[in-house]
Amino acid sequence: MYDVTLIPGDGIGPEVAAATVRVLSATGIELRWHTVMAGAEAAGREGNPLPPAVLESIQRDKVALKGPTATPIGTGHRSVNVALRKTLDLYANLRPVKSLPGVKSRYDGVDLVVVRENTEDLYSGLEHVVVPGVVESIKIITEKASTRIAKFAFAYAREHARKRITAVHKANIMKLSDGLFLDCCRAVAAAYPEITYDEMIVDNTCMQLVLDPTRFDVMLLENLYGDIVSDLCAGFIGGLGMAPGANIGETVAIFEAVHGSAPDIAGKNKANPMALILSGTMMLDHLREHEAAERVRSAVYSVLREGKKLTGDLGGTAGTTEIAEAIASRV
Ligand code: NAI
Repeated sequence: MYDVTLIPGDGIGPEVAAATVRVLSATGIELRWHTVMAGAEAAGREGNPLPPAVLESIQRDKVALKGPTATPIGTGHRSVNVALRKTLDLYANLRPVKSLPGVKSRYDGVDLVVVRENTEDLYSGLEHVVVPGVVESIKIITEKASTRIAKFAFAYAREHARKRITAVHKANIMKLSDGLFLDCCRAVAAAYPEITYDEMIVDNTCMQLVLDPTRFDVMLLENLYGDIVSDLCAGFIGGLGMAPGANIGETVAIFEAVHGSAPDIAGKNKANPMALILSGTMMLDHLREHEAAERVRSAVYSVLREGKKLTGDLGGTAGTTEIAEAIASRV
């Protein structure tokens, strides 16, 4: 029996979370869900987008599955994601990007992993008005966080038999901050002679990715570049409805898809639950329930290969709940 905190989130969150719970329960693994509210809805109801009960539950359970939470643009409350990642020190954001059977895409054979630093950079939220009309937003890069994420990426590469790590940067312009990030990556790389280490400037990286994403293996990025490049990479495998992820710390891990709350399709049973279901398989792997994780992945691939039950983003007409049932019955 595993205790897991469930944060359904906003928009399509509750729909894809319910679908994921349905599929994971079909594995027979006993998961005791503790459901807590965070995000815009919690802000409206409780006056706090991240009530203390949410943090307490995650700290107790050590593992959480999270739907997307909405963040107002330009004004309003701070991002729940940024707050969770910083408060719980979930320093590594892991986003595997793998071509899936049956999914129409201009790219085949993509199998890369985005490792994104999750706690600092321009996401430190340090912004202020210097004088009216002039705003300063501070980018923080530290040796400690850069070394820690580089160690995570290299350890991950070794454990998963990955051959190459590309550190992505803009150190030609941000010589001090991105320069420090690269120094830390190089120092860690020296301890992993069997893994090829190289570096690429972020703008060129985007162009190289679009030309041929199969040339990349593990990508190691600061927070902002990692955020942008993750969404770009989701486009290689059928879009945001297919891209899973995890936020990992020393003791706590939160599993969530790359996508947001998709307000344009929320409440319509149109959301593709596969991204969160695949995040659920990462959670099962984290719990060392590898056989169950593999069964869920195979069930997802089987539904995709058959191509009869697909949501609108993949060119089908099936609803979120139908997809969940189709996957659960195969599990
Ligand atoms: P978004 O990811 O919600 O939506 C972008 C586009 O992808 C939309 O057209 C949407 O319909 C589509 N899409 C996303 N997920 C899908 C799914 N599972 N199935 C089918 N189509 C899907 O990004 P957007 O619009 O930039 O952000 C909306 C809200 O989500 C914002 O408040 C933002 O702050 C929040 N957000 C939350 C995240 C999180 O909690 N981890 C991550 C990204 C955004």
